[in-house]
Amino acid sequence: MCGIMGYVGPREAAPVLLDGLRRLEYRGYDSAGIAVANGAISVRKAEGKIDRLGALLEAAPLAGTAGIGHTRWATHGEPNDVNAHPHSDPSGEFVVVHNGIIENFSRLRDELGAEGHDFASDTDSEILAHLVSRHYDGDLVAAVRLAVARAEGAYALVVMTSHEPGRIVAVRRISPLVVGLGDGETFLASDIPAVLHHTRDFLVVEDGELVVVTADGAVIETIEGEAVERDVLRVEWDAERAEKGGYDHFMLKEIYEQPAVVTETVAGRLDAEGSVWLEDVRFDDAFAAELDRIWVAACGTAYHAGLVGREIFQRILRIPTSVEYAHEMRYGDPIITGSSLTVAISQSGETADTLAAARLAAGRGSRLLALTNVVGSTLSREAADVLYTRAGPEVSVASTKAYLAMLVGQYLLALRIGRARHAVDAELAKRIGHGLHVLPGQVESVLGNEAQVAAAAESLVDADDIYFIGRGLDYAVAMEGSLKLKEISYLHSEAMPAGELKHGTLALVTRGTPVVVVITQGAVYDKTLSAVQEVKARGGRVIAVAYEDDDEILRHADTVLGIPRADDLLGPVCAVVPLQLLAYHVAKLRGHDIDQPRNLAKSVTVE
Ligand code: G6P
Repeated sequence: MCGIMGYVGPREAAPVLLDGLRRLEYRGYDSAGIAVANGAISVRKAEGKIDRLGALLEAAPLAGTAGIGHTRWATHGEPNDVNAHPHSDPSGEFVVVHNGIIENFSRLRDELGAEGHDFASDTDSEILAHLVSRHYDGDLVAAVRLAVARAEGAYALVVMTSHEPGRIVAVRRISPLVVGLGDGETFLASDIPAVLHHTRDFLVVEDGELVVVTADGAVIETIEGEAVERDVLRVEWDAERAEKGGYDHFMLKEIYEQPAVVTETVAGRLDAEGSVWLEDVRFDDAFAAELDRIWVAACGTAYHAGLVGREIFQRILRIPTSVEYAHEMRYGDPIITGSSLTVAISQSGETADTLAAARLAAGRGSRLLALTNVVGSTLSREAADVLYTRAGPEVSVASTKAYLAMLVGQYLLALRIGRARHAVDAELAKRIGHGLHVLPGQVESVLGNEAQVAAAAESLVDADDIYFIGRGLDYAVAMEGSLKLKEISYLHSEAMPAGELKHGTLALVTRGTPVVVVITQGAVYDKTLSAVQEVKARGGRVIAVAYEDDDEILRHADTVLGIPRADDLLGPVCAVVPLQLLAYHVAKLRGHDIDQPRNLAKSVTVE
């Protein structure tokens, strides 16, 4: 995800910006650039690592004490020098850096094109520079306001003009933005750690706000122009905590990033009617219509995302779908015939077994689609189609936000295929589309119940064995919940379909045995409840993840972790969040190394 920097003060801006961009590197990027005002505005930008930009600046330095900077993670247009930010209008008097996606980009580009605007890059961001310059009439704030009124999407936008020296204007719609208040100097950044070594005093710019930054400080108002009072946030984190965005662990930080990850993964790809546009998914409607089989190949958490995918593809598309452990598939001589699509799911895009299974499937004539988080990864390069999850870099070995993004990616894919083969009518498309649009807010509300999950974790700290049960989509989520717990708490846990419990595992349920049940699916609700009763009859302790308006479950479970009511098709996305938090808190109470659990690796690139 792109990183943003801005500086106004007494110092030379270029080194300050460059240093800030290096501290934003962890967000992932493919190019970087800065613009500095010194009378006129000059830009230096380059594809690749920040060192390339550094070398460029050494060869051709930029003098000036106000500037903006950016690290880009490509969305519209390939990573290259021209598509790197900052972007200028044709006069070079207005520059912008932008994090996010302008969803109505094509329309705006056509409109400006018809007025005679020529564009240098393939990006959506360049349009914003053109829009600001077109609306400029001596007041940058007014011009920015008019420009963003035309832009739909999620973004943080920072603008500078040579007409108003020593002033930067920025707006935030969803994508993060903070102001660092120094002594006679002011910083802008995507997050606090980028400038924490300069100042500990911050103003957090909220969604829907505009900020005017000068060396003397910053003034925040709403985008519509109403005054905003914002308290200064004094940040006391040490360097280690700062790296984790103020959280104790990367895992918790990443869990909390999930609402934004859902927003990013959906942005620009889904409209209110449920119509989907997936930029690198290149198969045509005829292929989607003829498709008679889907294979999903993955390992670990990605495999569990695939279990959800299988349910979605089969229920929504009615296409037979097999989800395979990639290490089994590669040696399993899979019978791949007809017109099939293989969805290889891999956060890293580098897992050796997943690559091998993907190659095998492609070699046997299946069309290969990579669902991955890493732009330019081996899997993405080898696949005919790519669906990037836009979760940003994930540091914690136990995967959370990448998993959630994989689920979202599969809903988008189901919509894309479903519309083409008329398996998804307008009403269903709208339902799923709406569900995805409200999802970030729902995940946010589940995160608001963390204290309740932490309390539930206390009852699991000394358990010997923990069982997870559910049916259908709930079973898929139970699998992931169980894996999370075992990865970082080192407690034995096991997931199974709720109906399977009585065929063996029930023998292990005695007084106090914890059983976590995921129960969101209306069609099998009563069946799952029967399994809960089997557990209760043996004295087992039931922790349920259920819709918060479900009164029935309160009469059966010992603890209920509520999630907002959703369409059953989308229920699992929210249901996994309390399970992630549960694993986190159990592991924390047990004093484990949460981000780097013993014996496990983030990416397994050997067999
Ligand atoms: C390792 C990681 C897991 C991950 C799996 C697959 O086992 O510890 O968290 O799910 O690899 O990784 P991938 O990058 O292919 O999604």
